[in-house]
Amino acid sequence: MKATNSFSRRAFCSSLVATPFAVHAQTAGPQKARVKIDTERTIGEIDQKIYGNFVEHLGRCIEGGIFEEGSPLSDADGFRKDVLEATKKLNVTQLRWPGGNFASNYHWKDGIGPRDQRQRRLEMAWGTVESNRFGTHEFMKYIEKCGSEPYFCVNMGTGTIDEAQQWVEYVNSAEDTAMTRLRKQNGRAEPWKVKYWGLGNEMDGPWQMGHKDAEEYGKYALEAAKLMKWTDPNVKLIAAGSSHYGQGIDWIGWNRTVLTHLRNHVDYLSLHLYVGNAANNYYEFLASSVDLDQRTKVSEGVINGVTSEMPRGKKIYIAWDEWNVWYRARGNKERGRRILEERYNLEDALVVATFLNSFVNHAHIVKMANMAQLVNVIAPMFSNEKGLFLQTIYHPLALFANHNKGMALDLLVHGPKYESRRFGDVPYLDASSSFDNGALVLNLVNRHLDQPMDVEFQLQDKSFTGEAVISEVNGPDIKAENDFGVQKVKVAERRASASGKMLSVRLPAHSFSMVRVKLG
Ligand code: AHR
Ligand code: AHR
Repeated sequence: MKATNSFSRRAFCSSLVATPFAVHAQTAGPQKARVKIDTERTIGEIDQKIYGNFVEHLGRCIEGGIFEEGSPLSDADGFRKDVLEATKKLNVTQLRWPGGNFASNYHWKDGIGPRDQRQRRLEMAWGTVESNRFGTHEFMKYIEKCGSEPYFCVNMGTGTIDEAQQWVEYVNSAEDTAMTRLRKQNGRAEPWKVKYWGLGNEMDGPWQMGHKDAEEYGKYALEAAKLMKWTDPNVKLIAAGSSHYGQGIDWIGWNRTVLTHLRNHVDYLSLHLYVGNAANNYYEFLASSVDLDQRTKVSEGVINGVTSEMPRGKKIYIAWDEWNVWYRARGNKERGRRILEERYNLEDALVVATFLNSFVNHAHIVKMANMAQLVNVIAPMFSNEKGLFLQTIYHPLALFANHNKGMALDLLVHGPKYESRRFGDVPYLDASSSFDNGALVLNLVNRHLDQPMDVEFQLQDKSFTGEAVISEVNGPDIKAENDFGVQKVKVAERRASASGKMLSVRLPAHSFSMVRVKLG
């Protein structure tokens, strides 16, 4: 147990409730932090694909989520208009489909042709029946409507390499072939030119249909990759990296072996991370992004090692193509329609903001990320047959996706820390920043449970000009949730005047704030 500062009796008692492992920094007044900003100290360009999302054939994500045929709330194509609107506002830059675990037994030809003639099949990943009413054409129609970039994941579990190749041909080829004639017959003359293709999902997991060891997967995925790139040299391929962590599990070795086989053919390494607060320990939970940081750094090292003797210029980036808070609706006994329907609270929204900070702070290597998933299933939106509400986690994601672009800045942050059991010292202030065309954005999580934080921002170059707009995500308490018609956790906006080299901002306890200001 380590106290990093003096503490008051009241706060000591409340921190005992929150965490038995650390005494939380307390002073008579607010916590204080100092942040130096130099617009020339950049980390890398923020790839807009970090604001991706994911729709899987799972529970009510696709059927009963984005797609609800016959609903008065749907358009003529069967897409829920309210879900589509909220998707657009989230600026979903790219969308992964069809899974997830579902992808590992998905045979894409089941999902094309006249809808009423498609085969119903037993779906074993999630224990249901797949109607196949939503397939390639329906997904691409949704992509068109929401203005997103498509990202397909092929079946490397029970699927064959020619099945993967033929999917690329069906979707992307301009040649006159049996596959492209079939596409035309099904109503699409022009190729869609889908660029991003995943080589399977979580192939390291024993829960995966057709699970393989790293050698088997690496070799199999290489053969698929060759055929896919020979079909369309413009595709970018994503290798299934690690998703299975825990004592005795060699997740680093999986990534190394797989990349050794695939390094000439893939452009991204896919990684997955879900975190939770089953122990109901706020401060340990709020430290989860340190885990994400570490896994990114370790994986970057593996990539550097595996590519070190390759021609310069060959880059493999990280795609965190499944990430979120997920621990409540997770029982393996869950089966059927209403599964993985996690309801989120304020502390989850703060963790989501720290994950986004982590992606921005590793902008040079993390070039793609997908929150899992878009609606109902561990999702920022929740719908029923009558409407929709925005979950707490929607708000930080929407703020990041709509405002952070350009270069990520390497901030120097001085401030108090606490000691977490799993990760050692964790700063109360978690921060990232972007700079684009004179506009500075600061993303700030005050992890402190009951103390505000006064932050002084010191510009090393340039000057603040005009007003700062501060968007704050907060709520009455860390367990506050949203519901139909109830937005306890929401965004509040305020303004502060900003000039010269210094700007002071007070961040309330347990909050996420985004500061946007012009520099001259
Ligand atoms: O997103 C839910 C599931 O989590 C996905 O199907 C799988 O890839 C992961 O285990
Ligand atoms: O992270 C692995 C996931 O955990 C599996 O997809 C799911 O079956 C389990 O709940």
